[in-house]
Amino acid sequence: MQAIILVGGKGTRLRPLTCNIPKAIVPVLNRPFLEHLLRYLGKHGIRDIVLAMGYLPTSIRDCLGDGSQLDVHLTYVVEESPLGTAGAVKNMESLLQGAFVVLNGDILTEIDLTDMIGRHRKVMPRVTMALTPVEDPTMYGVVETSEQGLVTCFVEKPGWGQVATNMINAGIYILDSDILAEIPAATPYMFEQDVFPALLRRGDPILAYPSDACWVDIGTTGNYLKAHHDLLAKQHGHEIVVAGGAHIDATAQIKGPVLVGAGSWIGENAMIVGPAVLGSYCSIAHDVVIDGALLWDGVTVAEGACLHNCVIGSSVRVEAACDIADGCVLGDHVVIQQGSRLPPDTRIWPDGCVNSDREI
Ligand code: GDD
Ligand code: MG
Repeated sequence: MQAIILVGGKGTRLRPLTCNIPKAIVPVLNRPFLEHLLRYLGKHGIRDIVLAMGYLPTSIRDCLGDGSQLDVHLTYVVEESPLGTAGAVKNMESLLQGAFVVLNGDILTEIDLTDMIGRHRKVMPRVTMALTPVEDPTMYGVVETSEQGLVTCFVEKPGWGQVATNMINAGIYILDSDILAEIPAATPYMFEQDVFPALLRRGDPILAYPSDACWVDIGTTGNYLKAHHDLLAKQHGHEIVVAGGAHIDATAQIKGPVLVGAGSWIGENAMIVGPAVLGSYCSIAHDVVIDGALLWDGVTVAEGACLHNCVIGSSVRVEAACDIADGCVLGDHVVIQQGSRLPPDTRIWPDGCVNSDREI
């Protein structure tokens, strides 16, 4: 079976992290995000994968190549202007045959795709849609179902008044190529606002595949940080994983789970409290405290600075004695002047940001 991964969005809710790179390749546990999704598909025997791209496509292609390193085969299709989630699939009609899987390109999950495909083949609905429970359904597509397991109502990003369930669209669909007849060519068109409501109005069956397997959409900075904390705790317990060429001073205190990237350097009496991640070639001076933070590659933190539950973009320089509070997000190459105190949730954009529109 083929899979299409939708990776054309601008990742506005992850800004300023996505000013220079697309959401699809932001690092997750020190690997580009899509690597995790491609491994998931490979594990379920899906190796023929098409990426539907729009924003910064070259960086995705440069990062993943033909996919052979992950034992998958990647084809790239670039939209000149955004075609929406369904329009992007219509745009690759000539590449598709039979049933195929469509995935949002920002989800990390263990939903049993093999079993979901089996259900689709047995029941033969127009669409099979994975569902997952969440705490705040208003940020997603809320899905009501019948006792027979069919979708009865789909509302994208409803207000609290419209929410009758905590089950949402998990962003994984199995479709047959006849669905392409429902989608106009070369026109922005959405599964969520256009295709699914039209099928429901007509009474065409959409089969729900509810699952309580782990699931997260990494598309907001809050979720991105939380996903790291959960994954680190789950995959690494209290482990400290140190990549090649890293140096940790004997007086530094490290409390796992912590990942230390290749070539990083941690100085005297520094304290790293997990869950935390240091990318490659980070330099952590003496007496620094890093507590629950994620540092991308090449970050320099000078003596006595404290970083709490924040995300620090590539090549950021934090000068001595700074304090960076929970929820702060710093874009690539930002410099924080000596002694600065950043209040919670501060976001700082890099200069010359490609994606400079600041709406979040
Ligand atoms: N190729 C292409 N073209 N991809 C697109 C386009 C487009 O025009 N627009 C969005 N995408 C991609 C994004 O890059 C992302 O990977 C995926 O489609 C979903 O877009 P998001 O912007 O992340 O949507 P969302 O998270 O607000 O909501 C969607 O996902 C939820 C689950 O995470 C919806 O499908 C919800 O119904 C769902 O609950
Ligand atoms: Mg999303």
